[in-house]
Amino acid sequence: PTEERIADLLGRMTLEEKVGQMMQLDARSGDLDDLIVNKHVGSILHTSPSDLPKAVETVNAKTRLGIPLVIGDDCIHGYSFWPGATIFPEQLGMATTWDSEKVQAAGRATAEEVSATGVHWTFSPVLCIARDTRWGRVGETFGEDPYLIGEMASSIVKGYQGGAKAGEPLAKDAILACAKHFAGYSETQGGRDASEADLSHRKLESWFLPPFERVAKEGCGTFMLGYESIEGVPVTFNKWLLSDKLRGAWNYQGTLITDWDNVGRSVWEQKVKPDYVQAAADAVKSGNDLVMTTPKFYEGAIEAVKTGLLDESLIDAAVARILALKFRLGLFEDPRLPDQKRIDAVIGSEEHQQLNLEVAREAVALLKNDGSLPFNVAGAKRIAVVGPLADDVQTQLGDWAGSSGQINWMPDGHPREMITTVLDGFKQLAPEGCEVVYSRGANIVDLVPDPEGEFYPDGQPRPKIGVSAKIDRALLGEAVENARKSDLIVAVVGDVIQAIGEGCSTATLELLGGQNALIDALSNVARETGKPFVVVLVSSKPQVLPASVIGTNGVIVDETPAEGTSALLWAPSPGMKGGQAIAEIILGETEPSGRLPITFPRHAGQLPVYYNQIRGQHGNRYADLTQNPAFAFGEGLSYTTFEYGDPTITNVPESGIFAETDTVHAEITLTNTGDRKGTEVVQLYIGDIVTSYSWTDRELKAFQRVELEPGKSKTVAFDIPVSDCTIVDSEANRIVEPGEFEVLIGHSSRREHLKRTTFTVA
Ligand code: IFM
Repeated sequence: PTEERIADLLGRMTLEEKVGQMMQLDARSGDLDDLIVNKHVGSILHTSPSDLPKAVETVNAKTRLGIPLVIGDDCIHGYSFWPGATIFPEQLGMATTWDSEKVQAAGRATAEEVSATGVHWTFSPVLCIARDTRWGRVGETFGEDPYLIGEMASSIVKGYQGGAKAGEPLAKDAILACAKHFAGYSETQGGRDASEADLSHRKLESWFLPPFERVAKEGCGTFMLGYESIEGVPVTFNKWLLSDKLRGAWNYQGTLITDWDNVGRSVWEQKVKPDYVQAAADAVKSGNDLVMTTPKFYEGAIEAVKTGLLDESLIDAAVARILALKFRLGLFEDPRLPDQKRIDAVIGSEEHQQLNLEVAREAVALLKNDGSLPFNVAGAKRIAVVGPLADDVQTQLGDWAGSSGQINWMPDGHPREMITTVLDGFKQLAPEGCEVVYSRGANIVDLVPDPEGEFYPDGQPRPKIGVSAKIDRALLGEAVENARKSDLIVAVVGDVIQAIGEGCSTATLELLGGQNALIDALSNVARETGKPFVVVLVSSKPQVLPASVIGTNGVIVDETPAEGTSALLWAPSPGMKGGQAIAEIILGETEPSGRLPITFPRHAGQLPVYYNQIRGQHGNRYADLTQNPAFAFGEGLSYTTFEYGDPTITNVPESGIFAETDTVHAEITLTNTGDRKGTEVVQLYIGDIVTSYSWTDRELKAFQRVELEPGKSKTVAFDIPVSDCTIVDSEANRIVEPGEFEVLIGHSSRREHLKRTTFTVA
């Protein structure tokens, strides 16, 4: 019957109404009534929820066919634009948990909150691969590894869509997910957002497509296209990507949406289309369904049909897919308007706050510890909590979560009492008699108006970051004095919202402003006094830390300076409860269990530094810089210790050789050899020892979070289908090559952390 209803509607729609259905416009770009009545717009984004009842009324009263609007928004790690909604750790933080169940639960909670407000569709998750970490959107990704990205994306999509598979109706408390940005957008030049990407079909097939393929086949409702080109053809018009791969090989039946003005940008920015008529015609021919924020698409597409440049049947096919999505949401029967009862019950509910805290606890990675942590606070008189991010809200919440540069048109912020900063966390947890003293210690950036740069919608120039690393001597002096008088020194440093996000890439990864000077000064205090000094990095992405934290910045001519830091924690924009999670870990109330979803360089000059690079030859290094990263993919410490036994493969066929259709069953014994309970993330990598085409040494294929009491052991088992042990040939085909493979199981992607066995494939 849905097909019949779609055919019936299509039969009654005018060309203008059909083209309008294909348009998604920004609710702030004009009078909503006018957009609906005169442009027949089928979808809006960034709307204020209070506009929705009126918009639905307009659709019903003033349009001929009453086709409901589908409402989309960037609910990226919680419904950022709704004051009081639960803001989870950013995607990179979620990936740091390596906990698929928690990530699915975060997606579920977000869907419950978002759906209550009348929004039907989130533009999340991001499946881009973060490699040049100067890129501003690294924090929006699940990191650098395609398998981990696929696993996390699949989990959050299940959470958003309530488990609905391809084409199935969505429950009232579910929202549509959107896998973006299809595909390869993150492969920037020099990390500059939306610069041209250099993408071959082989490269895409090797790394960038697999996570998308997974969620496409699992029924992720929509896909958003990136800004970049593949072999000279912008993704929006790319037949190979859209028709051959997505709609062809993967048989994807969901709905495609462009990114912001992709169609217009092809005319005025990329200059690959002469005008809007050609651009609109080609966008439809290439299989796009919804066109985001290109108002001139309307006139362009109508003209293209009228002049014979575009066959109307292609518009019909796109509109059919859009209507199918609206039927999937049941919008014809129920426009899913904001529901005050549900809003009161679910937005920022206690249950969601508790879940948020649990996710945040796992989203923090302990990267260094000389044994000072966990800090025994009993008997401590003073804790110095220092640093520009110690009592910060914005970086802790991350991008898309308040009044950042990115979304400054949205209502300001979330209720302060919902947010626990690191300072709040220590104040809550410090026992009676232990004073928590705060000093800012340093500023991060100077913001200067950039009249030649971008503008906010209100006409104000978007500020640029001043490059001077100003040291405020008074702030620094006060922090040092505080530190000297304390039993524990905690410095919270990191990045700022103005230096991250879409259009906000940075040329360097160094800590900005006076932060390095602050760390160095506090390191000196720690060295002189023997006091424990913990650095907490709260940032959207890996940053380059001073030598007093990581030992050396990797420049070979430098002498290795004495390290002055006892411990280092990283909290990738850990959300509303991040400060509590951090304080709990430092004070030993929570065991650290986060693992890096992305490699930490010692120096920005090491980039790219991701672990699974194609094997190179002898010259593949710098003469003046080690290639050894500060912390590798998968690393993260516990307060206990774990020992791995030798891996075994328990189902080797009698012939000794596996077929491509077989599954390899590998096991390893893990023992908690310390005296505390702890969680280890057991990681399994596969290496194809000799390949006919250049390939990486090892790739993550599975992982498990395992919690163990002290002294206890567990057999951890994995089933790896041989068909997953692929490489990509020159024609971009995925193949399994006969020969010997390594199974590497252990603590991180570093070879020295992995135990090895092998198997053979015929
Ligand atoms: O969803 C985003 C996308 O990630 C980047 N450009 C704008 C879109 C809508 O806000």
